[in-house]
Order: sequence, then C-alpha cells, then structure tokens
Amino acid sequence: MEKDLDQIYRQGLKELDVVENADDLQDVSVRYLGRKGILTQFLRNISKLPVEQRPGAGKKANEIKNLLEERLRQATEKIEPRDEAKDTAIDVSLPGRAVACGALHPITQTNQQICDIFSRIGFDIAEGPEVESDYYNFEALNFPKDHPARDMQDTFFITDDIVLRTHTSPNQIRTMEKTSPPVRIIVPGKVYRCDSDLTHTPMFHQVEGLLVDEDISFGDLKGILTTFIHQLFDEQTSLRFRPSFFPFTEPSAEVDILCVICRGKGCRVCSHTGWLEILGSGMVHPALYENVGYDPDRFTGFAFGMGVDRIAMLKYGIDDIRKFFENDMRFLRQF
Ligand code: PHE
Repeated sequence: MEKDLDQIYRQGLKELDVVENADDLQDVSVRYLGRKGILTQFLRNISKLPVEQRPGAGKKANEIKNLLEERLRQATEKIEPRDEAKDTAIDVSLPGRAVACGALHPITQTNQQICDIFSRIGFDIAEGPEVESDYYNFEALNFPKDHPARDMQDTFFITDDIVLRTHTSPNQIRTMEKTSPPVRIIVPGKVYRCDSDLTHTPMFHQVEGLLVDEDISFGDLKGILTTFIHQLFDEQTSLRFRPSFFPFTEPSAEVDILCVICRGKGCRVCSHTGWLEILGSGMVHPALYENVGYDPDRFTGFAFGMGVDRIAMLKYGIDDIRKFFENDMRFLRQF
C-alpha cells in the first residue's frame, strides 16, 4: 500500500518534469489532485482498508498530496513567473462600480416649487415649531376650548396643553405677534393628525400663507391663488372657490381644481365629482387681529393652507399617499 503511494508520487514527479506549458500543468494537476484524480481516489478508498492500516495510509497519502501540491506550485512559477506588478495593478478595462446618486424626494420637489412661486410673488418664508401649545394651535385661532370645530382635527395630545401641531396656521399668530403689517409670508412644514388611509398619513406637509395690509380684499385672495395654481399646474387648469368654514377665517373658501385625472368627467380619484380640493382659504377673522394687537378697522388680509403631499399626488398621478413614505427605491427613482 505504501509502495502504491510512493509509486504514485514518483510517477507524478516524472510527469511534472516534462510539462512545457500551463495546459500541461493543468492536466497533471487534474490527473492527480482533481475530483477524480489518482490521489483523490486513493484517499477516498482508505475507508475500505483493514482498520489497522487506515491511520498510516491516511497520513502517508496526505503527505504525498502536500508534496505534490508544493511541486505543482513550483512548476507553475517556473512556467509563469509571478509578476508582482500585475498582482496589484489596476485593471482599467473593468467596468466601474456605479455610485447610487440621491435625488430630491417628490414631496421636497413639490414643496420647493410651491415656495418658489410665492417667493417670486413677494412672500417671505417663515417657520414654526412642530410641538405647539394649545393656545397657538387652537385658542388664538378662534377655536375656544369647547368649540365643535376642534373635532375636525384628530389631534395628537402630548399634555392637556401641548399638541403636535395639526396645521401650520399657528404661524399666522406667531408671525403677527412679531411683526406689524404689511405681512406677507408662507410657512412650509410638517403637521400631524391621527389618521391613516389611502389619502391620509399621520404626518403630512402643509404650506400656510398669510397676507395682511390695508385694503386687502377677497379679490386679492382670488387673484393670488389663481396665479399660483396656474403656475403650479398649468395656465389651462380650471378652478373654483367653494364656500367653506374655518374658525379663523371669515368668509372662508376651499379651492378645487378640475380633476387632473379625468378632466372633469368624474373618476375614482375625484369621487366622481370632477373636482379635487387642494386648499383652504379665507379672509383673516377679526378676532385674530384682536389676539395679536392689530387694529381690525385698519387692516384686512387673507390666509390659505394647502396639503403638499396631496398636491404631489395630483401632479405625479399617484393613487396612494403612503407610497411617499415607504422609501421604496423603485418608486423614488421615477422622480
Ligand atoms: N389650517 C387649515 C387646515 O388645516 C387650512 C386653512 C389655512 C384654511 C388658512 C384657511 C386659512 O385645513
């Protein structure tokens, strides 16, 4: 048995002596050490030997295997001397690894478009806190403690007096407290309501607007909002002002645009009305002027608030608002 192994080894060395190129070498390697190679077979058959011969045979076979491997390595180096430079050189023909490039989220893009349009018309951009007091979120906006309109807001309360803001309107009060007219601001920001379905998420984005000066009329409100909508969508977009109610504006109006999906024929997105509501607005209620110390006989103004996520859905034809927040790259790559 040991003789067999010696025989295999000697034969292997003899064959290695005459190899001339890499192909020959490969042949020898396969013939002895490959899956069906002579030595491999031998190792596999050790289990069939009488028990007392197995350890000796295994040891010897492994030694021979290591020796042959070493000889093969040496022979390889003789044929193809190692080129150190080649080992570390950069292969310039390999395709590069693409770096994934980020882009602005569709809601961020829409928010920026809205802010750009109002900036051009002359509005300044303001910001306010997301954790808000009951006073700014409700009280100062003419929602008394037990006003039924508070029910319209599915509020997240932190304490009895502190809430996550349910709208950006508290910034009407915050801004007027700090500045005297003329006031012309928009306030983009996150708002929170306990609500979740196809068209609602517990956190969403609004842009608030406020303009206060002498002699401001409902005509100014209509003019500015019409200009805005025509710039945001297109000049042909039909819109309508529909009477509504908010405690902090009087009179109040909601603005609808002709459904961008069905162009007014009626479809699932517009609940078969042909119209889509995109913002709330109205003339600032005189009670607010009293709360901030403005003279209600001298100043008038209007305010408006819109849902950015809603507008992004309409602009891009997206039917489920939750897609914006899943961070699925296949969805986001489209913008
Ligand atoms: N704050 C209102 C809302 O959350 C929108 C609004 C803002 C309405 C300003 C009138 C004036 O829906």
